Amino acid sequence: MSAGGSTVKGPNVLIIGAGGVGVITAYSLWFKNKCNVSVVIRSDYEIVSQVGYSIDSCDYGKIENWRPHSIHKTIEDSLSSKIFYDFIVVTTKNIPDGPVASRVSTILRPILTSNTEIDPKKESNILLIQNGIDLENEIIQTYSRDELENVTLLSGIQFIGSTKIGPGKIHQLGKDRLFVGGFDSCDIKARNASQEFIEIYSNEGYNIVEFEPRVRYARWKKLLYNAAINTTTALVQLDVPRTLEFAKNKDHTEKFIYEPAMREIIAIAASEGIIIEEEFIDFFINISRNLLFKPSMCVDREKNQLMELEIILGNPIKVAEKNNVPVPTLFLLYNLLTLVQSKLKEELGLLKFDEKTLKLQSTT
Ligand SMILES: *[C@@H]1O[C@H](CO)[C@@H](O)[C@H](O)[C@H]1NC(C)=O
Ligand SMILES: *[C@@H]1O[C@H](CO)[C@@H](O)[C@H](O)[C@H]1NC(C)=O
Ligand SMILES: *[C@@H]1O[C@H](CO)[C@@H](O)[C@H](O)[C@H]1NC(C)=O
Ligand SMILES: *[C@@H]1O[C@H](CO)[C@@H](O)[C@H](O)[C@H]1NC(C)=O
Repeated sequence: MSAGGSTVKGPNVLIIGAGGVGVITAYSLWFKNKCNVSVVIRSDYEIVSQVGYSIDSCDYGKIENWRPHSIHKTIEDSLSSKIFYDFIVVTTKNIPDGPVASRVSTILRPILTSNTEIDPKKESNILLIQNGIDLENEIIQTYSRDELENVTLLSGIQFIGSTKIGPGKIHQLGKDRLFVGGFDSCDIKARNASQEFIEIYSNEGYNIVEFEPRVRYARWKKLLYNAAINTTTALVQLDVPRTLEFAKNKDHTEKFIYEPAMREIIAIAASEGIIIEEEFIDFFINISRNLLFKPSMCVDREKNQLMELEIILGNPIKVAEKNNVPVPTLFLLYNLLTLVQSKLKEELGLLKFDEKTLKLQSTT
């Protein structure tokens, strides 16, 4: 397949985060050929610019030497051509407690500034294809009302198994199913923009992309799994079936960690008026028992990378506190994982502990 480079009549899409998810997202948009696809590729820029991506995909087959319409080493480079990006798709990890430079609100700032300079009246659509709950708050709290007047915030919940297995090499094992909707389900502009995105993303017979009218419901439901199971695997550094089989009586993890943690998520969601059916507890535990699998949170810990702790546990616990919902299991998991996260931060030089005073030194 050729490397593209031509321009397509249609919206301009900028993808930030060229990991397993981001590259398949870029490929799906490129394949449909209804938009211009630009990707910011940090670590693999040289190899991709020389030979393109090598993709082994359960949806699209084996693809060699593929490039999107344009690639950029940095966000600044992607702005030098003065293109208005209609859709800014963020597929990075969401770590609001990480370094300021890698926060979503920081990453977006120059792009939104550039878009406003090019056309202040045009809508910039930001699509966050990320896990967790309340991730839009970081953006809403960082920007002024004015700055967000012509910005639409879209939520993408993706079910896909795709990993970067080497420089410029992507292996997609699980079929791509994407659900898109406005973070604010009453936002008409977001509804419209979601439909437009679905139109440029959908490849019949290859992927599944649907409008999600109940974004919060869908996010709380996915959290049922993430908040209970991913967190535990990360804490103990075991794959999912081992966390079940290694337990006291082979059932204590299920009975005393997973089930109560999931019930607490259901209770928090209920305090917000969102009803998650109890059957999903059994459903997720059944899946876990039958699939040898290590969630990304566990993989991150093993690779000494920061985990998406705040959006998976910190944010739901904030809601629980606001609504007076008792969440002892989640709270314990969160506090233990906060220590693990701090250990990772110390190893990455983001935290300094003074062994003379035995105190944490304040850092920026
Ligand atoms: C947003 O767009 C409208 C037109 O659609 C324009 O009147 C307004 O000034 C823009 N807002 C900002 C903050 O640029
Ligand atoms: C809806 O989307 C279409 C493009 O699909 C655009 O032309 C139109 O202006 C949008 N309307 C609103 C209200 O955002
Ligand atoms: C989970 O597995 C158990 C035992 O195999 C079965 O009885 C139950 O119906 C399953 N539940 C769901 C929701 O799949
Ligand atoms: C948790 O595991 C789910 C299920 O595989 C995965 O989709 C998700 O990316 C993981 N999330 C985190 C934060 O590790």
